[in-house]
Amino acid sequence: MRFKFPAIAARLAFCILSPVAALFLLALLAAPAPQQAPAQPDLQAGELAQPAWPAQAVRAPKAMVVSDEALASEAGIEILKKGGNAVDAAVAVAFALAVVEPAAGNLAGGGFMLVRLADGRTSLVDYRETAPGRATRDMYIRSDGTLDAEAATIGYRSVAVPATVAGLELARRTYGTRKLSEVMAPAIRLAEQGFPVSEKLARSLRAARPRLQRFSVSRRIFLKDGELFAPGDTLRQPELAATLRRIARGGAAEFYRGRTARELADEVARMGGLLTREDLAGYQAKIREPLRAKYKTNGSEWEVISAPPPSSGGVAIIEALNILAASELKSWSDPQTVHWVAETLRRVFADRAAYLADPDFAHVPVRGLIDPRYAAQLRGTIDPERASSSSTVRAGDPSAFDGPAAPVGALPAGPRPEGAHTTHFSVVDAAGNAVANTFTINDSYGSAVTASGGFLLNDTMDDFTTQPGVPNKLFGLVQSDANAIAPGKRPLSSMTPTILLRDGKLSFLTGSPGGPRIISATLLSLLSWMRLGMEAQAAINAPRFHHQWLPDTLWIEETFPALEAQELAARGHNVQRRSWIGQVEAIGIDPQTSERLGAADPRRQGAAIGY
Ligand code: DON
Repeated sequence: MRFKFPAIAARLAFCILSPVAALFLLALLAAPAPQQAPAQPDLQAGELAQPAWPAQAVRAPKAMVVSDEALASEAGIEILKKGGNAVDAAVAVAFALAVVEPAAGNLAGGGFMLVRLADGRTSLVDYRETAPGRATRDMYIRSDGTLDAEAATIGYRSVAVPATVAGLELARRTYGTRKLSEVMAPAIRLAEQGFPVSEKLARSLRAARPRLQRFSVSRRIFLKDGELFAPGDTLRQPELAATLRRIARGGAAEFYRGRTARELADEVARMGGLLTREDLAGYQAKIREPLRAKYKTNGSEWEVISAPPPSSGGVAIIEALNILAASELKSWSDPQTVHWVAETLRRVFADRAAYLADPDFAHVPVRGLIDPRYAAQLRGTIDPERASSSSTVRAGDPSAFDGPAAPVGALPAGPRPEGAHTTHFSVVDAAGNAVANTFTINDSYGSAVTASGGFLLNDTMDDFTTQPGVPNKLFGLVQSDANAIAPGKRPLSSMTPTILLRDGKLSFLTGSPGGPRIISATLLSLLSWMRLGMEAQAAINAPRFHHQWLPDTLWIEETFPALEAQELAARGHNVQRRSWIGQVEAIGIDPQTSERLGAADPRRQGAAIGY
């Protein structure tokens, strides 16, 4: 175990000396833990060393948009105030993020949009990327049999078929009310006129310089031809503005079959990538039935609505909530509570590794995995006192509740590098329509390639099982053969946009970036709101932890209390400090007043704006 002995313990020894000091100690212990500064901030994704932790969520009577960037949240509000609904606003936010948060917001990535309309209808827009038609199972294996992990994470060969424009158009056409040109107007303005580079963006671009400078268009646009952007500089993106204008005129057809498609495919072909005009013309976003599950707790009936495969997120969240349904959860400063959740995550991730994949290509035993009777079996394997060892925990067998489905074989764990990025946002409008959306180009700045049309390309091919026996490069995730590369297939995702109802009414919207940590961060926010009854902002501020089965490590944020970490280590957990886990942009609904409670994540300066 490796964790830092923080200032609080030193203060404890000092304070034992006098009653005044004892009072000081009590105040310290009662203070919200996040006020301790992280000792080793990870600045890769542009986060702050010392975020300001707001005490309360932003309240608004009608509508709320919470995203990573104030300019994107404002874009959503602008569309709402012009009469657009939550889906129109969500599309506006997404296009704006493609301009102001280039590390994660995108045109050429993919994601999942969960919609719940005020009339109760729900829907999941699956705009996950697919493997190009010429992709093969072993495309990243060198002739000597080793994995070329770099090829799966940087440059043209790491690019899966872009899905975002198709997904946003499908959502707007199906559930929106405004014209595409109208909802894209804020993004076009931001790209054309430029916007002031924030400290966060300047730091993030500096961290990404080694990757971005390898590609000429990326170097020219995002590194000013080799000179870094300083906070306060203006970032104008004329090529992106022109692409956005063409899409606003021609719709998704322009991106997939028009000039944008032709230029992109030709460029990729010249540079040795796989993506073709046919891949672009053939891409289809899909509308899927979201996953749902019900729980009774705190005198209410709750219903969780979340993303189905090809995301593992909804299955993982519901399986975890089912396992935890019978456990008493007290607070995040209670080691017993953290132990229950960590042991649950260990088992959920073992199942993820064995069973989850694109349901259009493999049988995923979803029904079994989210069956409460299956959860009861798994709960029985948890020792309430001691940590299990992941070397002895294997995927469970949900087939009795599902139908036959053998685990396809889990793989050993590997390294878990830092710095990737994705972006989640939540929107509620005055009528009560709600959208939770998570989208990504996978790594920070995706493949690091910017197309001549001014947009960054994803490196989502690394979310496949790139080589049986080897964990994926970015997240060290163990995944099964069912997630192997095949043409047209969607790689398994962890993105988990989730909506919670309380007694049939909209109650909470949540989701996060963070690769596998998406699942933990989203689960913790749901438990904080539903099981622990925390105020919306407190639910987001609370120190986070993460377990993904392999490697057998309980990661805790720098703000996680040291004494509690020691207690968990004494139970046998391999506790390790790390930087921030996730970036949850959530909205709660006050059950008394129906006010919208915007809870932006201060870790990377999210922005909640309402009216
Ligand atoms: O779909 C997934 O699970 C990953 N591509 C998400 C990547 C991610 O969250 C990186 N961000 N921190």
